[in-house]
Amino acid sequence: MAQIGTDIKQAASLLANGQVVAIPTETVYGLSANGLDESAVARIFEVKGRPTTNPLILHFPTMAALKPYVTHIPPLALQLARRFWPGPLTLLLPKHRKVPQIITAGLPDVAVRVPNHPLTLALLQQTAFPLAAPSANPFGYISPTKAEHVEKQLGDQIPYILDGGDCQRGLESTIIGFKGDQPLIHRLGAIPLEQLQAETPGVEWAFHTLEKAKPLTPGMLPFHYSPKTRLLLVDDLKVALQNHPYDKTGIISLSQRVEGIPDNHQIQLSLEEDLTEAGRHLYKSMHQLDALGLEVILVERLPQVGLGKTMNDRLARAAMPRPMDTK
Ligand code: TXA
Ligand code: MG
Repeated sequence: MAQIGTDIKQAASLLANGQVVAIPTETVYGLSANGLDESAVARIFEVKGRPTTNPLILHFPTMAALKPYVTHIPPLALQLARRFWPGPLTLLLPKHRKVPQIITAGLPDVAVRVPNHPLTLALLQQTAFPLAAPSANPFGYISPTKAEHVEKQLGDQIPYILDGGDCQRGLESTIIGFKGDQPLIHRLGAIPLEQLQAETPGVEWAFHTLEKAKPLTPGMLPFHYSPKTRLLLVDDLKVALQNHPYDKTGIISLSQRVEGIPDNHQIQLSLEEDLTEAGRHLYKSMHQLDALGLEVILVERLPQVGLGKTMNDRLARAAMPRPMDTK
């Protein structure tokens, strides 16, 4: 069992000794290690059961702290960083050679972010190195948004979980790369496309598409973010329920209560239909229903706007069958 606490000094000293520590961020909990220590970073991959072909995000306390680790910051990247950091934005920037290859899986760009959580910012101020951190879940499973989620999934493999309470955003960061002057969204996240567009008048936003020959990175893999229970993303809960037993089915909806389903088997993400609130509760709800041993979890598709798009993206991946069980 991992120790769960709020002792930044203890977390910093474990990290300085090459150990892996779970940390809170405003998006999801991360599984962190010294980003400059290859063997500490290798331990992240081992604990997560994640292929080493999949690069990691480096976390910094400030934009000034990350400058030595990249060779160039495009003007638009600077503008976005000033607007959204600390916050749920990850930028892909050309890496300096001091960034170990294991962080970027051999790619020319490194993913960097300044997270917005007081405990983790204080921790980052105390460590003499950036923290490499993927989401703190076993490869392919639901991201954790509370310390208990991490403890349940990975607690037997890590010494310490820094407990920062429930994640405020509950959805991973938006990842943006650049091709020349053109910004490309690599992963839709806690900053919706509409907000990016509103902040950058005149800029044309596009999505990164994978070239077929390139290896897929898990954020892009079709299966991901899944509970152990089968999950289906549906347009109409009542129609979908015709094919499933009422007593063995879990329901996640934006605001609708379904008659005949036990109260503890159904979760409304936001009675006010607020998508920010819904985003905060989505993964928590999936973790909660996944623990009940149900046959299936039906999730009502969210409105395809703002954070609804991010949530539908994650849910579509969670609904994909897993090619193999990793844990
Ligand atoms: O909100 C977040 O971003 C959380 C918190 C802990 O910061 N982290 C997170 O990390 O979601 P992870 O590893 O679960 O997802 C990061 C995604 C992966 O899909 C990875 O392939 C992609 O970012 N990525 C990382 N470095 C990259 C790079 N150099 N080029 C392209 N994609 C990269
Ligand atoms: Mg992840």
